[in-house]
Amino acid sequence: MRLDVVSIFPAYLEPLRLSLVGKGIEAGIIELRVHDLRDWTSDRHRTVDDTPYGGGPGMVMKPEPWGAALDDIRSSDPGKRPALVIPTPSGSVFTQRTAESWSSDTWLIFACGRYEGIDARVAAHYGERPDWSGVREVSIGDFVLAGGEAAVLVMVEALARLQPGILGNEESALDDSFSGEQMGDLVEGPVFTKPPVWRDRAVPEVLLSGHHGRIAQWRQEQARARTAANRPDLGEVT
Ligand code: ADE
Repeated sequence: MRLDVVSIFPAYLEPLRLSLVGKGIEAGIIELRVHDLRDWTSDRHRTVDDTPYGGGPGMVMKPEPWGAALDDIRSSDPGKRPALVIPTPSGSVFTQRTAESWSSDTWLIFACGRYEGIDARVAAHYGERPDWSGVREVSIGDFVLAGGEAAVLVMVEALARLQPGILGNEESALDDSFSGEQMGDLVEGPVFTKPPVWRDRAVPEVLLSGHHGRIAQWRQEQARARTAANRPDLGEVT
């Protein structure tokens, strides 16, 4: 899976070289390229923003550097059609379902907006380009970040751990919170490891029983209880 990220703060994406995503890169499962949007400006001040038409506070990212950057990056592989991902609080919500459906894509290009966002003609233009496979405007939650970079860190990590060969234990993804078939819309219950007693707290007896059926049933009950307590919005709790 190839991932390109365009940002005015390329250093913000450095953590992707660590840990799980970093391992995926080293293993050749993920190809990550980070780009500085200002490399595609043409004025002395390397300007990427301007005042909004219609007035109002803040600045809007100019379309020209974005068009130049995205065309250039796209031209590096004429044989594939990338999807353009634009993180924005006004997008549809990125969930585990979204991560699952994107995990088999071969090429995603993330455009990190700052300020009040990117001139809307950029999304409109790439949405109509036959050599691109669409534009996806997504939010990682109902809060406002200073830019798309932190959202890209989140989304790339969620995608990376779904790539075959990355987790090590492929099964461990199946019982994660929200993980589709196995968990439905439930969050995961509590987990325990050794020692069996810590500060007078014992590990629940059933987990030591070796009885797989009873353990599975107990975990299901715990997941339901936690979902009801912490995430009543997820429904499906009976
Ligand atoms: N940019 C600013 N806020 C954001 C959010 N909640 N999700 C994705 N991108 C954003």
